[in-house]
Amino acid sequence: MTQPEPDILSPAFGKDPYPTYRVLRDEYPLLWHEPTSSYILSRYEDVERAFKDPVFTSENYVWQIEPVHGRTFLQMSGREHAVRRALVAPAFRGNALREQFLPVIERNARELIDTFRHTGAVDLVAEFATRFSVNVIADMLGLDRADHGQFQRWYTSVVAFLGNLSQDPDVTADGLRTREEFAAYMIPVIQERRRRPGQDLLSILCTAEVDGTRMTDEDIKAFCSLLLSAGGETTDKAISGIFLNLLRHPDQLRAVRANRTLVAHAFAETLRYSPPVQMIMRQVAEDTVVSGGTIPADSTVICLIGAANRDERRYTEPDTFDIYRDDLNSTNAFTAAAGHLAFCLGRHFCVGALLAKAEIDVAMNQLLDALPDPVLDRGFTAVERGVFTRGPQSLPIRFTPVGDSGGQTS
Ligand code: HEM
Repeated sequence: MTQPEPDILSPAFGKDPYPTYRVLRDEYPLLWHEPTSSYILSRYEDVERAFKDPVFTSENYVWQIEPVHGRTFLQMSGREHAVRRALVAPAFRGNALREQFLPVIERNARELIDTFRHTGAVDLVAEFATRFSVNVIADMLGLDRADHGQFQRWYTSVVAFLGNLSQDPDVTADGLRTREEFAAYMIPVIQERRRRPGQDLLSILCTAEVDGTRMTDEDIKAFCSLLLSAGGETTDKAISGIFLNLLRHPDQLRAVRANRTLVAHAFAETLRYSPPVQMIMRQVAEDTVVSGGTIPADSTVICLIGAANRDERRYTEPDTFDIYRDDLNSTNAFTAAAGHLAFCLGRHFCVGALLAKAEIDVAMNQLLDALPDPVLDRGFTAVERGVFTRGPQSLPIRFTPVGDSGGQTS
């Protein structure tokens, strides 16, 4: 070994994990990490296997998520998982997505952009990304959008609990409080929706039946909690991530602006290059040999998506953001056949991937129309934050308002 064992809890890793990912892939493809009592996997081939091979279970979510979400289908397997997934999956694709939810997505993007389209300046993180995805989910579920600040606080707290690698007690306490608050908020809404169902996703969840199985109030509450965090924090970071990647590559930004079919390429490449979810965990059911070592039965495994997606064994020049790369197919990038790991693969492949794609398509198209010549504020250096989920902390942008011929001021 030429490099010391990396520590994924170090400040240097938090600042920029990508150099550490390389050391892990090259020298420690299977590493026991004492502080988190976990084995770390970083190569594409190994992380892909961990997502697909059933010896890697999601039992870890029993302690990692259940205390705040309750039991969601992330920790289920087999028939229990398949039945629950079949109940909700149709709402996230095809006709339901196109006819019922696309107008909701378009309206939400427009309403937010209307608040800054004439101003010539916006922080895309604070004023758009963090609001857009949570508003969309709240609207899809038919919840009161006036409570969006509360939803955002809840999902931030849930995701912090999930990624609490250093076991910070304040983060744990906040997560547990969120569980109580969320249940107190949601259960009466669910009961009311059972009495008077509407057209929204919550009503679909309350009435849907597969093989004679209906979701219980607790099931639905847990699922809504999962939706707010799985669909809120991730898509929020994806939108700011795609924008930052394009701002850092002005030639590619110009190309996407001129040819909107490239939005899908830019999103696929963002998912590979700077995935919003950088790592997820698994637990092995039996002794398992990976990258020349053995992971003992029942151990926790950290699967580094961010490292695997930059593996030089899988991609040419993996540290280059290139929307034209020929080793990533943007047609299947949002399906379970994806050539990147940002949505996971296998039976827990992100059920919201097509919804995320629809949100990014709409948001990017409307933003590119409203912000013809976006540039980062002069002197501002964008900083990405987060170890478990990761994205730009803020993105203050200047632009010439459409219809204003005065040009930018700086
Ligand atoms: C760019 C945006 C997104 C990314 C990067 C992302 C990423 C992921 C990943 C990595 C998983 C696998 C977790 C695991 O197996 O441990 C997952 C699962 C899931 N995602 Fe997403 N997600 C995104 C958007 C969404 C949206 C918009 C929704 C819905 C509103 C959603 C809902 C879910 C659900 C319910 C699961 C659990 C699926 C199962 O266990 O069968 N996600 N997502």
